[in-house]
Amino acid sequence: MTEQLPFEPGLVAVDPAGDLATALELPARPLHIEVGFGKDVRVLRAAAADPGTLYLGIEVSRKKHDKFCRKVARAGLRNVRALLCDVREVLQEMLPPACVLSFTVLFPDPWPKRRHHKHRWITPESAPQLARALVPDGCVTVATDDAPYMDQIRASMRSAGFRLERETATVPALERSLFAERFERLGAPVLYQLWLRG
Ligand SMILES: C[S@@+](CC[C@H](N)C(=O)[O-])C[C@H]1O[C@@H](n2cnc3c(N)ncnc32)[C@H](O)[C@@H]1O
Repeated sequence: MTEQLPFEPGLVAVDPAGDLATALELPARPLHIEVGFGKDVRVLRAAAADPGTLYLGIEVSRKKHDKFCRKVARAGLRNVRALLCDVREVLQEMLPPACVLSFTVLFPDPWPKRRHHKHRWITPESAPQLARALVPDGCVTVATDDAPYMDQIRASMRSAGFRLERETATVPALERSLFAERFERLGAPVLYQLWLRG
């Protein structure tokens, strides 16, 4: 007998102009969110191993988003959705409170030049929005190779009441992304953190 999954097959892409909560049946469905998946497919591995949970990838690049949708369809995964949108808009107005189990953020663009810092999205403004969207025992995992950005992330998460549960100099195998592998090959230092909602 084939296993009954709680999700109907259908389009992977979620309409950014529509109501996200309705499209994803929030908060009734447990949801994991991956922000800025790029060309990486970690979320497909996670979703395949956890078919009863919904996984949403958010990506601002149309090309990467469309490629991701094709990969999800080819893999036949019914519990993965993709949203072509700036995560800042999603956090500001599109997510109901207490509906997200976890956010995974692997190597967010660091925008190292000072005049470009305004493009970074993990900030003292967005960290409370992450906290609001999470369920009470929800978490955020984040990895970066950019030490100054990690300082900003640490300060932002602390000020929003997050508690640092784990900090390592390598990305755990299950979370390893294309960028994680690239930095590992180069021998470049990275920092990985797991934050729990306070
Ligand atoms: C450096 S890549 C990392 C890709 C992947 N997570 C990995 O580790 O291999 C950062 C990705 O975040 C996406 N991104 C940047 N700013 C974003 C935003 N505000 N909202 C959603 N995605 C964003 C970029 O388009 C890019 O694909």
